[in-house]
Amino acid sequence: MNLKSNISIIIKTALDKCDISADVVINESTKAEFGDYQYNGIMPLAKVFKQNPREIAKRVVSQIEIGTIISKVEVAGPGFINIFLNRDWLSENANIALKDDRLSISKTDNPLKILIDYSGPNMAKEMHVGHLRSTIIGDSLANLSKFLGHNVIRQNHVGDWGTQFGMLIAYLEDISQDSADNLKNLEQFYKDAKKRFDEDEDFADKAREYVVKIQSGDEHCLKLWKQFIDISLHHCEDVYKKLGVSLTRDDVKAESFYNSELDNTIKFLEDKSLIDISDGAKCIFFEDSDTPMIIQKKDGGYLYATTDLAAIRYRVETLKADKILYVVDARQSFHFKQLFEIASKVNFSDNVVLEHIAFGTMMDKSGRPFKTRDGGTVKLVNLLDESISKAKDSINKRENYSDTDIEKIAEVVGIGAVKYADLSINRESNYIFDWDKMLSFDGNTALYLQYGYVRISSILKKYDGDINSCNISISDDLEQKLVLTLLKFEDTLDRVYIQSKPHILTLYLYDLTTLFMRFYEQNPILRDDIVEDIQKSRLAIASLSAKTIKQGLEILGIEVVDRL
Ligand code: ARG
Repeated sequence: MNLKSNISIIIKTALDKCDISADVVINESTKAEFGDYQYNGIMPLAKVFKQNPREIAKRVVSQIEIGTIISKVEVAGPGFINIFLNRDWLSENANIALKDDRLSISKTDNPLKILIDYSGPNMAKEMHVGHLRSTIIGDSLANLSKFLGHNVIRQNHVGDWGTQFGMLIAYLEDISQDSADNLKNLEQFYKDAKKRFDEDEDFADKAREYVVKIQSGDEHCLKLWKQFIDISLHHCEDVYKKLGVSLTRDDVKAESFYNSELDNTIKFLEDKSLIDISDGAKCIFFEDSDTPMIIQKKDGGYLYATTDLAAIRYRVETLKADKILYVVDARQSFHFKQLFEIASKVNFSDNVVLEHIAFGTMMDKSGRPFKTRDGGTVKLVNLLDESISKAKDSINKRENYSDTDIEKIAEVVGIGAVKYADLSINRESNYIFDWDKMLSFDGNTALYLQYGYVRISSILKKYDGDINSCNISISDDLEQKLVLTLLKFEDTLDRVYIQSKPHILTLYLYDLTTLFMRFYEQNPILRDDIVEDIQKSRLAIASLSAKTIKQGLEILGIEVVDRL
């Protein structure tokens, strides 16, 4: 249920009746005495009409329909309109949401084909923490878009092409007798290959020769390369599985996929007269910058940018995307700015929305980019395992569960903590990776929400009647606030969707859970002295709260458990 638009329509109608045409934006009230929502749009109108804003507000207020949805309106301050909602209407809508699998969240009337480019690890090395943010943020945006009824195309633009592969496959060939074993640790494999490359001239020559050979399609080298990529992709898939991320092989459209189109892409841009030669390299220049985008080097070699140009063409022309989101590190902002400018020059962006969903760097507690103790990059698998093991420690101490229970709970809590810590920060900022904070029961953490969910579930479980026969009927201000918050779920999801910012959803879920805890403290549910109707209504509110928390977390890619 889209609360805001329901109310906006009523205000808009009142404005129309006063012959005022304006776009209506209503805001959530900051204090209970200001009502549930506030309309602050009168002041700018007053200037246009050269009238006292309070007078205009009074006129508008007299035209606002009081009844089913709005119970009361007041003019406040210099010309604000405070809007109070009807309790029965809120109760009724909460009941509809409670009985609906989608919690009354409608699917869009205008489904778009949304292509989300995320994760994009490089195959030469194992996935490291730098790919964590893209993977987690991208996956939650994909889940959300799908939930809202859009067609989502996930694209994993993995880096599987480049000179380093010559070295890697030459090394793979050399040690082939136990290659599978060696590649269990890709990171070590890379280091060993590099060492060999630096120390052994003959090997280095062979590596360089292999680069040329793969590029010219030599069968033997391509076979080795494919073998290498396959193993590397398996590593990524292990991480995705552990993370509960939905990317599969089918979503992989690696850089090499575009190889056959690179020549054509250059030709396409040449035909549009966009290419200039500078120092022998093919470049695209821009009016507002001295830095061109280089798309073919002097020696004929292609670049990251060339592949992205071929990819954008494929996505627009072949996949027919309506919207393309690139969930990539903010340090690539300039690259995407240039890419989108070129897309606009060739009219790709006429019908396609292009957005760089930029995110900041993951830092350690001392504010430096996240590294291992000896300064190396932190492998993602190790980080996730550490989180699971830390979660396990905290559960072990608390309860006497079976081993399988503990394994499952530790996984849900450990993975949830890492994902939530990332998603709960405005993606544009850098974020500090802090174990203690992310695995805490207090504060805006996954565990706090998971714990809230467990508490509500246990209340519902203890009730021996039929929960499904319980209906919400708001009986005090705190209940009204909680129910209103529950009904704001759709507005929240819409905001997350528009801004591609999952932290808006985490904050909502955190506020919701906190509010529920307050409600539960003040409004006991299972105590013997509670009147039956009130008890049932509170149970129904609890049930809708649990469902909303669960659904919200599911969109973020975080699981819940029934006990902790
Ligand atoms: N492999 C790239 C990197 O690690 C990310 C790919 C992002 N996607 C794209 N279409 N450029 O930096």
